[in-house]
Amino acid sequence: MSNFEQANPVSNIAKIRAIDDSGCRLYLEFPNGTFTTVVNEEPFEYAVGSIVFVGINTNFIDSAPDSLWPDQSFVGVVRLRLPDITIVDAGGRWIKIPTSQTVCSEGNTVEAMISTGVMRVLSKEPIKYIELPAIDDAVVSKFRLEKEAIKVTFDDFGGLHDVVERARKLIEVPLKHKAALTTIGTRPIKGVLFTGQPGTGKTMLARIIANSTQSAFYEISGPEIFSKWYGQSEELLRKIFEDAEQQEQAIIFFDEIDSVAGQRADESHEASRRVVAQLLTLMDGFTKNNIVVIATSNRPQDIDVALRRPGRFDWEINFPLPNRLDRELILQVATKRFNISDNLPHAWVAQKTEGWSAADLAAIWTEAGLLAAADDRSIILPEDYIGGFELVAAQRRRTAKLSTKGNSK
Ligand SMILES: Nc1ncnc2c1ncn2[C@@H]1O[C@H](COP(=O)(O)OP(=O)(O)OP(=O)(O)O)[C@@H](O)[C@H]1O
Ligand SMILES: [Mg+2]
Repeated sequence: MSNFEQANPVSNIAKIRAIDDSGCRLYLEFPNGTFTTVVNEEPFEYAVGSIVFVGINTNFIDSAPDSLWPDQSFVGVVRLRLPDITIVDAGGRWIKIPTSQTVCSEGNTVEAMISTGVMRVLSKEPIKYIELPAIDDAVVSKFRLEKEAIKVTFDDFGGLHDVVERARKLIEVPLKHKAALTTIGTRPIKGVLFTGQPGTGKTMLARIIANSTQSAFYEISGPEIFSKWYGQSEELLRKIFEDAEQQEQAIIFFDEIDSVAGQRADESHEASRRVVAQLLTLMDGFTKNNIVVIATSNRPQDIDVALRRPGRFDWEINFPLPNRLDRELILQVATKRFNISDNLPHAWVAQKTEGWSAADLAAIWTEAGLLAAADDRSIILPEDYIGGFELVAAQRRRTAKLSTKGNSK
């Protein structure tokens, strides 16, 4: 039998954490954090802190070299450094370790040991939990629609005469005559809030004005800036504004702003608070009068009051559902865009579509086009138009039924 077999009942490594007064009972900690006790008739001759082998299901115990105790290093960000202790944030868990000789400061990413403290500084910056893509020009340009890419004009926008006039006055005039306004010195219009139900033309009109003023158009979606750009939303906003300032003139279109700028009573929305604060800082900061920010909201009453102060979104344009005449005009503008016969009953459809949005009306054309194509024609005839209207009407009735069901729960 070899010496190895004699001296080696299967054993575990353990650290002596405490010894009772009699010296006969040891309290042992295993590397995985569990404990056990070992009792002897005679006092043990070990000291607290020693490393030992302990037999599994035997009473074997023997001293072991300290170096066998697996004090694994971990990586974290220094949160606090006092003369005696250092607090390191390791993935959200705060670990207290002794302050070592290694020089480090708060915010550094370090490699450390529980027993001996920080071993080395890995980076001066806090490590990021997820690798976030850098926000460079390529990213910013994804948000920017080049002037040439916007094809819609005022001629494509039917009805809502008052809305169009108001928007032109508030946005088009300041952008077209920014030099004159700068000389006059009156307070520039920085932000305009577009309110109204979905499909009432908010995005479309903003793009039209970008086109008519030859402005770069940046489109930011409120929900997306949170989900997709979480942790970087503020930086992204900053970069977009920087880019916009470089342009001759620019419109920054912030869709569904209430998703980030709702009134928050509690502390749980720290991230959205920061985005709103960043937006305010940026709006207060730009001075060249070459940017107008348009934000849209379906719930303007819910928007953070700070955003409604003078010099921010203090102008509001409400996009109502189109009235009968508006609807007829909206239907008529399509005549220019699509291949349709000239005897279509617009007035009749306008009469039948009380409560419809412009987007609902636009859907008629899609359906009508499909009906015509299915019939092997390349022109929309009155029967396709009426068929399209009926299909969208049926679709609307189904959706309305679903939503009343949902509401009555
Ligand atoms: N006044 C209008 N004249 C002609 N077409 C219109 C008009 N307003 C809207 N439309 C049509 O409806 C579609 C949807 O409009 P738009 O995207 O501008 O609505 P929105 O108010 O931004 O809606 P949401 O709140 O859902 O973003 C447009 O693409 C266009 O086809
Ligand atoms: Mg829109």
